[in-house]
Amino acid sequence: MKGKGNVIRFLLNEKLVEIDFSLLPELKPTTTVLNYLRSLPFHKGVKEGCAEGDCGACTVVVAEIADGRLRYKSIDSCLVFLPMLHGKQLITVEHLASGEILHPVQQAMVDRNGSQCGYCTPGIVMSLFGLYKNHRDPSKESVMDALTGNLCRCTGYRPVIDAAAIACSGTENDKFAKTEPDVVIRLTELNSDKSPVTIENSSQKYLKPMVLSDALRFRKEFPRAIITAGATDTALRQTKKKELLKEIIDISDVQELKYFREEQDYFQIGAGLSIESLRQYADGKIPALKQMLDIFGSLQIRNLATVGGNIGSASPIGDTIPLLIALKAQVELKSTNVARRCSIEDFIIGYRSVDIFPDELITSIILPKPSPERFIRSYKVSRRKDLDISTVSAGFSLLSVNGIVEDIKLVFGGMAAQPVHAFKTEKFLLGKPWIVKTIRDAMEILYNEFTPLSDARANAGYRNLVARNLLLKFFEESKGHPA
Ligand SMILES: Cc1cc2nc3c(=O)[nH]c(=O)nc-3n(C[C@H](O)[C@H](O)[C@H](O)COP(=O)(O)OP(=O)(O)OC[C@H]3O[C@@H](n4cnc5c(N)ncnc54)[C@H](O)[C@@H]3O)c2cc1C
Ligand code: FES
Ligand code: FES
Repeated sequence: MKGKGNVIRFLLNEKLVEIDFSLLPELKPTTTVLNYLRSLPFHKGVKEGCAEGDCGACTVVVAEIADGRLRYKSIDSCLVFLPMLHGKQLITVEHLASGEILHPVQQAMVDRNGSQCGYCTPGIVMSLFGLYKNHRDPSKESVMDALTGNLCRCTGYRPVIDAAAIACSGTENDKFAKTEPDVVIRLTELNSDKSPVTIENSSQKYLKPMVLSDALRFRKEFPRAIITAGATDTALRQTKKKELLKEIIDISDVQELKYFREEQDYFQIGAGLSIESLRQYADGKIPALKQMLDIFGSLQIRNLATVGGNIGSASPIGDTIPLLIALKAQVELKSTNVARRCSIEDFIIGYRSVDIFPDELITSIILPKPSPERFIRSYKVSRRKDLDISTVSAGFSLLSVNGIVEDIKLVFGGMAAQPVHAFKTEKFLLGKPWIVKTIRDAMEILYNEFTPLSDARANAGYRNLVARNLLLKFFEESKGHPA
C-alpha cells in the first residue's frame, strides 16, 4: 500500500519524534496521547481523571499551521489517538518554563495561589497557556470558557481566574513567540508529504488520509472501517466501552473538509470544521447556532469535535441537529464517483443511525440563510449549564405575517430516539394568531405529543414539561421581534 507505512512524525515540544509502530509493539495506533505521554520518562505532568473528556486533567496544547502561523488549541489528550498528532507540535506542561523562569501563566498561578493538591494544576496551566496564546486582555467570558473543561475540587476557581487575567494582560512575550518561525518551518516540512499514513498491526488497521480523494478511496476499499474525525465519540468506544477498534479511517487532517463558506443564499460548512471554528464563524452570522455552540462541551472538546461528527453520530441529543433541521439544512455526501445531497431530517433515520452508503463520507452541510423576518432560537436544557449533555434541546423557527403563523418549525432533541419535529403542534399553530391563547392551547398539545424515555438525566414527565415550557419561552422571546 502506498503511503507512510507505520510511521508518524510530530514535534514533542521542540524535539522531533518519529514513531515507527512496527518497532514499538507496546504502542497501538489507538493509544491515546495521554497514555503515550504517561509512558515516557519526564512527561508525567499530564494526568488521567476521567478518560472521557470531562475533567481536563489531561489537557495539553497542540500547535498546527493555519495561514502560515501557528494556531494553538487546548485539547483533552485522553480522547486523541496518537496518529492524530502527525505533523503537529504537542506542547506539554514540562516545556512551558525556560530553565528556572516560569511561563507567565505558571508564575501567575503561583502568585495568586491557584493550586492546592495540584492534581488538576497541569491541566489548568495548559488551558491558561491556550488562553494566553489566543487572547490578549481576555474578557471574563473568554477566561471562563477556557476553564470550563477543567475541574478542580479543592482550590476554587477565583485564584485561577485572577491568574488568567494577570497572565494574559499586556503584550504576548513568551519563548513560544520567539520560536514560532522555526516551528512553522519544521511543521511545514513535516506536512509537505500528502501521502496517507497507514498503520497496521496484527489486530488493527489505521488509515490516515491527508486528502479527500484518498479518504474516499479508503472508504470504498474498507467499507466496514470506523470513521473518526475529532474522535470525541469514537475514542470513548475504546476508553469507556473497551472496544477494539479494528479498522479506522482518520479524516482529522483532511484540510479540504475544514472550511466555512458564505454564499448569497446559504452557508456551506465543511464536515471536518471543528465546532469551535464554527462557533467563531457563526458569531454575527447565525446567532441561534452561536448561542447553542457557546454551551457545547468545553473548549477542549470543541477544538476537537467536528460538525460532521455531530451529525454523523446522530445522537438524539446532538446539539446542532434540532436547529439544523428547523432551518432545513442539507448534508452533502460524496463517494469516489457520486455526490448527493439530502436533508438532515431524512439523513437521520433512527437512534444513532444515518442513511449513508458504506463508501460515502459527509463532506459538508448546506445551511440556507433564513430570511430576516424569521424568528429563530435554539435551547439546551441540561442538569448544569456548562460541559453537560442536553436533557432536552430544541431548534425553533417562526415566520408570522401580520401576527398570523405562516410557517413554524419546532424540532426537539431528547424527546425521541432521534431529533424530531413536534408535527401535531406545528400543524395546530399554522394559520393561527401568534397570541398567548394560541400558545396555551399549543402547549397542551405539545405536552402530550411525545413519549420520551426516562433515564439518568430526567424522567419522561420532566421532559414533556420542559418541551412544553420551551414553547412559552420562545413565544415570550419573540415579542420583541418585528415580524
Ligand atoms: C466530554 C464531552 C462533551 C460533549 N458535549 C457535547 C455537547 O455539549 N453537545 C453535543 O452535541 N455533543 C457533545 N459531545 C459529543 C461529541 O463531542 C459530538 O457529537 C461531536 O460533534 C462529535 O464529533 P467528532 O468529530 O469528535 O466525531 P467522531 O468521534 O470523530 O465521529 C463520530 C462518528 O461520526 C461519524 N462521522 C464523523 N465524521 C464523519 C464524516 N465526515 N462522514 C461520515 N460520518 C462521519 C462516524 O460514524 C463516526 O464514528 C460531547 C462529547 C464529550 C466526550
Ligand atoms: S482524563 Fe478527564 S478529560 Fe481527559
Ligand atoms: S488543586 Fe486539587 S483538584 Fe485542583
